[in-house]
Amino acid sequence: MGRNMSGNMCGVPRWAVGALVVVVLALVGCFIFCIFKKFISKKKKAKKVRERKTGRKQKAGGGEGEGEKENEKEGGVKKEGEKEAEKENLGRLEFTLDYNFTDTQLIVGILQAQDLAAMDMGGTSDPYVKVYMLPEKKKKFETKIQRKNLCPVFNETFTFKIPYAELGGQTLVLQVFDFDRFSKHDVIGQVKIPMSSVDLARPMHEWRDLQSADKEQQERLGDVCISLRYVPTAGKLTVNVMEAKNLKKMDVGGLSDPFVKVVLQHCGKRIKKKKTTVKKNTLNPYFNESFSFEVPFDQIQKLQVIITVYDYDKLGSNDAIGKTFIGYGASGVGLRHWSDMLANPRRPVAQWHTLQPEEEVDALLKGPHR
Ligand SMILES: *[C@@H]1O[C@H](CO)[C@@H](O)[C@H](O)[C@H]1NC(C)=O
Ligand SMILES: *[C@@H]1O[C@H](CO)[C@@H](O)[C@H](O)[C@H]1NC(C)=O
Ligand SMILES: *[C@@H]1O[C@H](CO)[C@@H](O)[C@H](O)[C@H]1NC(C)=O
Repeated sequence: MGRNMSGNMCGVPRWAVGALVVVVLALVGCFIFCIFKKFISKKKKAKKVRERKTGRKQKAGGGEGEGEKENEKEGGVKKEGEKEAEKENLGRLEFTLDYNFTDTQLIVGILQAQDLAAMDMGGTSDPYVKVYMLPEKKKKFETKIQRKNLCPVFNETFTFKIPYAELGGQTLVLQVFDFDRFSKHDVIGQVKIPMSSVDLARPMHEWRDLQSADKEQQERLGDVCISLRYVPTAGKLTVNVMEAKNLKKMDVGGLSDPFVKVVLQHCGKRIKKKKTTVKKNTLNPYFNESFSFEVPFDQIQKLQVIITVYDYDKLGSNDAIGKTFIGYGASGVGLRHWSDMLANPRRPVAQWHTLQPEEEVDALLKGPHR
């Protein structure tokens, strides 16, 4: 072996020189390409950062805790910039804005979209537009779904009743989704309009390019930790709602008063439900509350454990902060947790789950049973 090596070192064969040259050229080419790419993405990032900065200024004064959220989002910025390089043209959206000072209503018109990005395998999308105001997201509207149409006409209007003085700190979000019956709806793109950036004295009518709204950028609703234990011989399922963290703030004024509802569903039918107590004034509640259910072994295969975190509201309906489900028809963590539980009978298996918007989870839950 030693002989071989020394031989190679002294008389370098011609093919080796050739190979070396090729490798060096490739490296240099790669280097130039990387620098070029970095330059381009830097430009884009700068643009993005500029946008973000203006957005943030308008948001300032939105109350404590806001800064924390911004920091969290910051983590997603880099990825966003990188993705944008590949995915620029998402389409554009035509909309109108009008504020009626007499009855303090903001009237949002969603007219149409053009050249939407195709999200389905068939090279098309089934778009609809979701309309809401940040940070509260209290009221959410959706247009009708326009099937297989990349240039859909919506022509619908939505009304938000908001006093003029409160508008300034809010941001209107128009999010174009691709409807999908069987999986999570994809965001095609979005337009965000800080209310402080528009002159509401006059009606506004504009086309705007859609910006990407990656998952990282989508609003975080929080996480919930659930422990599951199944005893097949006794047919007993125990669901422990351990805790939740980083819950989205539902009230502009203070923190939320969260509680968790656990619903058992079998073959699409609700069979049981339980609630935890309400934890006052916190976004990181600790529950450690256990619920036991009788679930015979032949039912466990098609069972879904649906977890919804609510903000308790004395006056009216409780707002769902977010939702997730574990078991039949789940994917990702929801499926893995379930298989882990089944693979470890009689042992509690704990797992964190990321909360998703209620309507998206509801769409998933309906999917397989239609
Ligand atoms: C505002 O709404 C009121 C009541 O619906 C209506 O009478 C009025 O004409 C509206 N104002 C404008 C500027 O559209
Ligand atoms: C939108 O709706 C208005 C009133 O309903 C109607 O007059 C107009 O023609 C519609 N526009 C399109 C492009 O469908
Ligand atoms: C959760 O509650 C149970 C029973 O109420 C208790 O035994 C256990 O120590 C608690 N777990 C933690 C981590 O506090």
